[in-house]
Amino acid sequence: MLDAEVRELMQPFVLSDYQVQEVYSRFCLEVARGLKRSTHPQANVKCFPTYVQDLPTGDEMGKYLALDLGGTNFRVLLVSLKGHHDATVDSQIYAVPKDLMVGPGVDLFDHIAGCLAKFVEKHDMKTAYLPLGFTFSFPCVQQGLKEGILVRWTKGFDCAGVEGEDVGRMLHEAIQRRGDADIAVVAILNDTTGTLMSCAHRNADCRVGVIVGTGCNACYVEDVENVDLLRADFKKTKRSVIVNAEWGAFGEGGQLDFVRTEYDREIDEKSLNRSEQLFEKMTAGMYLGNLVRLVLLRALERKLIFKQSSRRPEFASVLQRNEEVFETRYISEIEDDSFPEFASTRKIVKNLFGLEKASVEDCQTLRYICECVAKRAATLVAIGVSGLVNRTSNRRVIVGMDGSVYRYHPKFDAYMRQTLQKLVKADKEWDIMLSEDGSGRGAALVAAVASKTK
Ligand code: GLC
Repeated sequence: MLDAEVRELMQPFVLSDYQVQEVYSRFCLEVARGLKRSTHPQANVKCFPTYVQDLPTGDEMGKYLALDLGGTNFRVLLVSLKGHHDATVDSQIYAVPKDLMVGPGVDLFDHIAGCLAKFVEKHDMKTAYLPLGFTFSFPCVQQGLKEGILVRWTKGFDCAGVEGEDVGRMLHEAIQRRGDADIAVVAILNDTTGTLMSCAHRNADCRVGVIVGTGCNACYVEDVENVDLLRADFKKTKRSVIVNAEWGAFGEGGQLDFVRTEYDREIDEKSLNRSEQLFEKMTAGMYLGNLVRLVLLRALERKLIFKQSSRRPEFASVLQRNEEVFETRYISEIEDDSFPEFASTRKIVKNLFGLEKASVEDCQTLRYICECVAKRAATLVAIGVSGLVNRTSNRRVIVGMDGSVYRYHPKFDAYMRQTLQKLVKADKEWDIMLSEDGSGRGAALVAAVASKTK
């Protein structure tokens, strides 16, 4: 049985039906404001047009390179599109050293070009002409497919000299500086766009792409007449365009203050990007573990957990030492654990605190904390998804999803569905599908679709 006091501790994370409805209305309003030219500058959900106007048909062919920057890893991929909705992907993961994430931008792009050259060499393609799709998962203003001006860094990146610059050009120049490969950057895209495209490659009804990973964001297919920022010449021949919502920034106008907790405020205050990406800080993998850590500290202080142990102050100092000690993946492992054995939970507790045998009660308390933090995140994500699904003109809408939190959390999908059921309009038929390598396959598809329409 859970302590009434533990329930009370977690109460601020439990969203009431009224709060869910209210966040939903505020979110929908922000999307509308982001799309309109007159309100766009003040809006915090920016709704950037991506210039991707064609969804894949499944018959795309050819070899493409893809780069994926913006999560925990940086990847280079070779994607072979084979027609018949088929593709194979060969990829290599490279580390992005912490100092490069906050160093000069030119160093970051030189590092990327270096990895690219190694990859091409390994695949014996040094002399081949290769079109490249660059999945760059940060907010960008686009005037076309090939250029993306970085608005601001998110997710712990902060390289000097890139904000306000075209990242397509910076990558091109870094490749030119080396001069050892014939690679052309043909498209810049967000990971959410890649996710939507890779799901649409399999299922023609996909209209929304969502990432809940290190960061959290979504894109969706919008009618061109509603997208004021799309260049007029792109409205003549095509009826729709993918819009990158950049919903991570939702709340920067105070819209979420009525649901944010003291823990959310602390995370924001200690972050690299203070007062920014407030929705992201409540939903993304980069922050969820830290949220649990802060709640655990409070639980220790109030003697709500590890009550029998005299070592509580020692546990607290373990948690205070480092913001990253409670990893987000623990949340998934703990929620996946079986009662009353709690084998993974006990292992995590042992590794963190050196506590040999946590009691069943302690494990239940820890699990409840994790559950409340994850469920709130899933509910918020589902509020956003519902807003976008309800905007699309299709009756049947598939939501393509990816990201480590969605993928590995055992109940994230179920939590999301509960909220979607409440908020998606009754005349819509919807489902969620897991994307297969959106950042790679999706990037190749954008590149392929772009060359088709030339
Ligand atoms: C951050 C980025 C956004 C990206 C998301 C998921 O919110 O700003 O562009 O899509 O993370 O990676």
